[in-house]
Amino acid sequence: MIWILHFLFSPLPTPALIGLITLGATIFLWVITRPKTISPPIDLNNQSIGIQGGARRSTFLPENKLLAYYYEDAKTMYEAFQRGLHVSENGPCLGYRKPKQPYQWLTYKQVLDRAEYLGSGLLFKGCKPSPDQFIGIFAQNRPEWIISEYACYTYSMVAVPLYDTLGPDAIVFIINKADISMVICDKPEKAQVLLENCEQGKIPGLKTIILMDLFDDELKDKGAKEGVEILSLQEAEELGRNNLREPVPPKPEDLSIVCFTSGTTGNPKGAMLTHENVVANAAAFLKSTETTFDCKTSDISVSYLPLAHMFERVVQTIMYSSGARVGFFQGDIRLLTDDMKTLKPTMFPTVPRLLNRIYDKIQSGAQNPLKRVLFNFALARKLDEVKKGILRNDSIWDKMIFKKVQETMGGQVRIMVTAAAPISPSVLTLLRGALGCQIFEAYGQTECAAGCTFTVPGDCTTGHVGAPLPCNILKLEDVADMNYFSSNNEGEVCIKGPNVFKGYLKDPEKTAEAIDTDGWLHTGDIGKWMPNGTLKIIDRKKNIFKLAQGEYIAPEKIENVYIRSAPVAQVFVHGESLKSSLVGVVVPDPEVLPKFAAKLGIKGSSEEIHKNSVLKKAILEDMVKVGREAGLKSFEQVKDIYIHPEMFTIEQGLLTPTLKAKRAELSKYFQTQLEALYANIQE
Ligand SMILES: *[C@@H]1O[C@H](CO)[C@@H](O)[C@H](O)[C@H]1NC(C)=O
Ligand SMILES: *[C@@H]1O[C@H](CO)[C@@H](O)[C@H](O)[C@H]1NC(C)=O
Ligand SMILES: *[C@@H]1O[C@H](CO)[C@@H](O)[C@H](O)[C@H]1NC(C)=O
Repeated sequence: MIWILHFLFSPLPTPALIGLITLGATIFLWVITRPKTISPPIDLNNQSIGIQGGARRSTFLPENKLLAYYYEDAKTMYEAFQRGLHVSENGPCLGYRKPKQPYQWLTYKQVLDRAEYLGSGLLFKGCKPSPDQFIGIFAQNRPEWIISEYACYTYSMVAVPLYDTLGPDAIVFIINKADISMVICDKPEKAQVLLENCEQGKIPGLKTIILMDLFDDELKDKGAKEGVEILSLQEAEELGRNNLREPVPPKPEDLSIVCFTSGTTGNPKGAMLTHENVVANAAAFLKSTETTFDCKTSDISVSYLPLAHMFERVVQTIMYSSGARVGFFQGDIRLLTDDMKTLKPTMFPTVPRLLNRIYDKIQSGAQNPLKRVLFNFALARKLDEVKKGILRNDSIWDKMIFKKVQETMGGQVRIMVTAAAPISPSVLTLLRGALGCQIFEAYGQTECAAGCTFTVPGDCTTGHVGAPLPCNILKLEDVADMNYFSSNNEGEVCIKGPNVFKGYLKDPEKTAEAIDTDGWLHTGDIGKWMPNGTLKIIDRKKNIFKLAQGEYIAPEKIENVYIRSAPVAQVFVHGESLKSSLVGVVVPDPEVLPKFAAKLGIKGSSEEIHKNSVLKKAILEDMVKVGREAGLKSFEQVKDIYIHPEMFTIEQGLLTPTLKAKRAELSKYFQTQLEALYANIQE
């Protein structure tokens, strides 16, 4: 470290000879290690093209024909996998590991064979080889998940992921809504949850559970009592192997997956996605990155983001259609670093929450002032390079400063994609410099498979979500009551293209809210076209926003719950898409407060009472209790509050004439307090 500081801050050595030698050596070193630049495939000042009707499309397209597939021989997910088998010449496909062990790999053929066996086993158990046959998959990411999924696709059946973060009632809702009689589970505990619901008569249609992990006879007996047959995965595959059926491949327009997403209110909605929807989205990615990433059979992706979410599904479709590999984490996010060091992925799909953690780690590594100076200097050099299109991990700065963090990811990452929630510009910029790989931001939603915009390769700027992907066109529609007009290049983001979903399962009403009669998917996000053709997301149509972990929040619903807490007269719930928790401003009820405070033994003037931290804590606890009773999820609860002694009024401009909260005004008014609250929360 010392010598480099010397090198940085001292004048050049005086003797000219030494100077020349140094210069010569430097040039020599530079020439032999000269980094390759990636040139942007399109003009970064002109990233999208306006078409008729005010919509915009990708510049990657030679004409207005949207991309529905990338490879002629891979128009369904089933075909994509077959293609992977051919181009990899039956190479390694799915990787998994036991603690502290190297990765073991199943080849493409092994996966396909097992998918055929399992699929035949499902048919043997009475499932129909048809796109109206829905199969539940209730498991964490692991190779058997993919085997189960492809068992469905091989016989034109539809996979329906079940996952527990939607809440216990959601599982029951989904199984009934989708008429699921067959669920493939990873652990006996999950089968237990299902059986308990059977016992209560909540899921009468469930007939068969197939279990990946070992289970005991007791569970089998319990199932039998409820009329549910429990089979091991191995048994099911064996059954199919002995009763093998010819594949019944799906067509592109056939349903492939029903992806249930949490609404902000009410029951989850089952987004129906076809094979074409998913393949088109993967194709658009392959097209956008063909000159800079060019996914090959040697590429490896790490799978830890829930397979029940479409982002991970699209990533895997990209990998399989290219004959690349997917390595699964052990199932514990705390061991992800260890898994990545062993796997050495080249592709790292990720979410802002994780990147924020990496960012914090890098930042905290440079605490003392000297280190800070050096770090900032190194980062500036790397960012200079990034701006010139140079992405590398072998510069002097990498060796000295950034090697460690690069190695926590295995040291081979070529490309990262972040999605699911907005990422803060400072995090994105720092990581682009520090990690030496391309980092793309994708914006979209389940209803358009996953992404509708994507960073153009070579664009290392922030403050936008990239350009339209070549599988869809986008337009901005007027939202007059919020003062957004397409004539100002602002409005609600609407999407059209082969990646747009077919509607919500058995829910024509919600489908009609999402897709209009002209086929435009309405996102509810307010966007703005930037002069260089990129899109920026600037607002939400309704008062609904996403937290950093990707969960939707409807603050008014939460406020309506908290208002039931006795000491609360008015409450304003605030959240930001770059934070993972909510905070609030509470105006105590002047009639209840004195008694409430007295009970806690708090005395003093009104001002003193309002400032009392015990009081604040008690009010917060009461709110959280009321919230829990009303069924608020833990991410919907405020983590901290500020006690404000005066009512919000119309005169102050904090309420509308109909006494509704003016959210933007309240956020502005309490900006200092809200910032202070966030500063005290360990996110
Ligand atoms: C942007 O690109 C389109 C087509 O590629 C072209 O027609 C248009 O003139 C370009 N605009 C600018 C400002 O360069
Ligand atoms: C840098 O990244 C590339 C992948 O782009 C990898 O092959 C190489 O081994 C890495 N080098 C070091 C020194 O980590
Ligand atoms: C495109 O425009 C946005 C918004 O003005 C800006 O932040 C970004 O730097 C621009 N990108 C490029 C490549 O110039």
